[in-house]
Formats: sequence, C-alpha cells, structure tokens
Amino acid sequence: MEIFKQGEAELQFEDDRKNETITLTMDPVKGKVVYNANCVSCHNNDPKKQGSIDPQIYGSSKELLSKKINYGKYPKNYRPKRSKKVMPLMPHLDKEIKNLHAFLNAPS
Ligand code: HEC
Repeated sequence: MEIFKQGEAELQFEDDRKNETITLTMDPVKGKVVYNANCVSCHNNDPKKQGSIDPQIYGSSKELLSKKINYGKYPKNYRPKRSKKVMPLMPHLDKEIKNLHAFLNAPS
C-alpha cells in the first residue's frame, strides 16, 4: 500500500535490530488503522476487551503476533487463550506487525 511505504523502510531497520522496544519508528496510529481494517471483524474494537469470537489481545508480543498472523502458530511454551484454529493467516500483514504491536501495547 502506497501510504505505508515510508513506514516500511523504517520498520525494516527495526527488524534488523530484533528487539521488542517500542520506538518512534513504530506507529501505533498506523497499527490502529491496520487493526481496524483487518482484525475487528473478530476481535473487539478495543483490544483490551473480548471480541465477537475471539479473546482480547491487548499486550500481545511481537513474536506472538508474527507467529499467529504468518503461520497460525504460537511462540514456544505459550498457552493460547483459545485452542481453536479459526483465525485466518494474513501473511501480507507481516510488514505491519511492528505497528500492530505498537498499537496493541500502547498505554491508554
Ligand atoms: C476471522 C476472525 C479473525 C480475524 C479477522 C482475526 N482474528 Fe485473531 N483470532 C481469532 C480467533 C478465533 C482466535 C483464537 C485462536 C484461533 O481460533 O485461531 C484468534 C487469536 C488471536 C491471537 C492469539 C491470542 C492469544 O493470546 O491466544 C492474536 C495475537 C490475534 N488473534 C491477533 C489478531 C490480529 C492482530 C488480527 C488482525 C491483523 C486478527 N487477529 C484477526 C479470530 C480472528
């Protein structure tokens, strides 16, 4: 998506550093846009609340988001809040995971 181009370049840089720190290169506002467009059909508008068919996901780690969105899997030793496999894979959102992570961990 054209409007995300700039962000993607910045995110790539963050990728190389492989840390979980929320920095200014991650944009929780962008993350919210991505969340609203792709996640709220199942998850609650407010990620701190239970969704229509899904658990609340506020506080999700980057690793959890990446495994779940790209592979439908969970980090090692992670106990899923639901054991079903209903959520579709959305690997095209891989580049937005940093922003989603920032949004889902933003203090409110
Ligand atoms: C079609 C419905 C649907 C959509 C769309 C969806 N999810 Fe889910 N999600 C689920 C369901 C149902 C689960 C419970 C596990 C399962 O069935 O896969 C889940 C589980 C999760 C979990 C794991 C929660 C935990 O701690 O166990 C995360 C993280 C998550 N979703 C994030 C997202 C994000 C981010 C998006 C948008 C990019 C999204 N989901 C879009 C239905 C959905």
